[in-house]
Amino acid sequence: MKIYLSPPNMGGTEIKYINRAFDTNWIAPNGPELNAFEKAVCEYINMDNALAVSSGTAAIHLALRWLGIKQGDYVFCSDFTFIGSCDAVLYEKATPIFIDSEPDTWNMSPVSLEKAFIWAKKENKLPKAVIIVDLYGESADWDALIPICKKYGVPILEDAAEAIGATYKGKKCGSFGDISIFSFNGNKLITTSGGGMVLSNNKAAIDKMRFWSTQARENFIHYEHCEYGYNYRLSNICAAIGLGQMEFLQTKLDIRRKIHERYIKGCEDLPVNIKEASEKGKSNYWLNLLMLNEKIITPEQLVTYLQQKGIEARPVWKPMHMQPLFKDAISFSHYDKEFLDEILFNKAVCLPSGDGMSNEQQQEVINEIKKAIKIYTDNKNEVNKTYAV
Ligand SMILES: Cc1ncc(COP(=O)(O)O)c(C=O)c1O
Repeated sequence: MKIYLSPPNMGGTEIKYINRAFDTNWIAPNGPELNAFEKAVCEYINMDNALAVSSGTAAIHLALRWLGIKQGDYVFCSDFTFIGSCDAVLYEKATPIFIDSEPDTWNMSPVSLEKAFIWAKKENKLPKAVIIVDLYGESADWDALIPICKKYGVPILEDAAEAIGATYKGKKCGSFGDISIFSFNGNKLITTSGGGMVLSNNKAAIDKMRFWSTQARENFIHYEHCEYGYNYRLSNICAAIGLGQMEFLQTKLDIRRKIHERYIKGCEDLPVNIKEASEKGKSNYWLNLLMLNEKIITPEQLVTYLQQKGIEARPVWKPMHMQPLFKDAISFSHYDKEFLDEILFNKAVCLPSGDGMSNEQQQEVINEIKKAIKIYTDNKNEVNKTYAV
């Protein structure tokens, strides 16, 4: 591959913090860079407490444990997402119920959520939590979703794994849930190579999750355990990368917005659309989303074509209710008889959007998209001509 979807991009100061960690021998899942990284993210998001852990999935797992999710419980989950949103529901042997997306933000549909709650109340299956994703760096419609969850008294876990730097009505993603999480995986805007964070204004919640994340060691001189825990804490070295990355976040956001604008301009004459962000928020444009006319070229055909040219593109997330793993799961669609996210899955492709991508590289991506569409359009015309004869 010559051009990746969203590869890591260092700002330059990361190495200074890594060297500082080495110089002071904080080569452990503990240390000043870890504390400073948590503080930097808290201040940026405007939240009181944060805990840095080894992945976004670990962050969700800790949050679900804090919310008391256990075997036999139901959890409403965004249907249109990466599996990492839902894995931890299965770790706790609870049952996910999937909620479709709405057309404006592609995030959880308030219409489907309300349908699901009405059903759950009637069936005595009310969920213990709702996991709502800010997908592809775009905020969910919080003013519509929060009141519904409040009405039923169910807490929200905001999965902002992909959305650091995005806002909704001026407020940062990662500050809407009772508990929120980020991922710092290598492909995210801010990376610690692998990592995640859980945030909450509830100090007791973060303290308890910190305790579980370090093997639930009681405060004794010897090793004493009353509960089981996990080895989930982020390394101080990884946090040093994150600390440097945070200094570069605004630059990354500015670059990604420009990339988005160039895609819109570059594709304006084609029979495609680049998804524009909802006016309710500001996307971080983690990935740009290309909507195809699948009668001309399908996502699979375009992704395969680009791959042959050394360009990494991907179909959008395959909805959870379509996954073999969840074939027996209950799910609620946005439309009467149709899932919006199924329509999106059949139409949309994620394009390279990394903030290290040069203008020339992006132009190459656009040129190859144009060529692919022309090849497939010409082929269709040939076939039609043959039939006409
Ligand atoms: C929406 C979403 N949730 C959760 C995760 C899990 O995060 P991690 O890969 O850091 O475990 C990811 C992605 O990586 C994600 O995109």
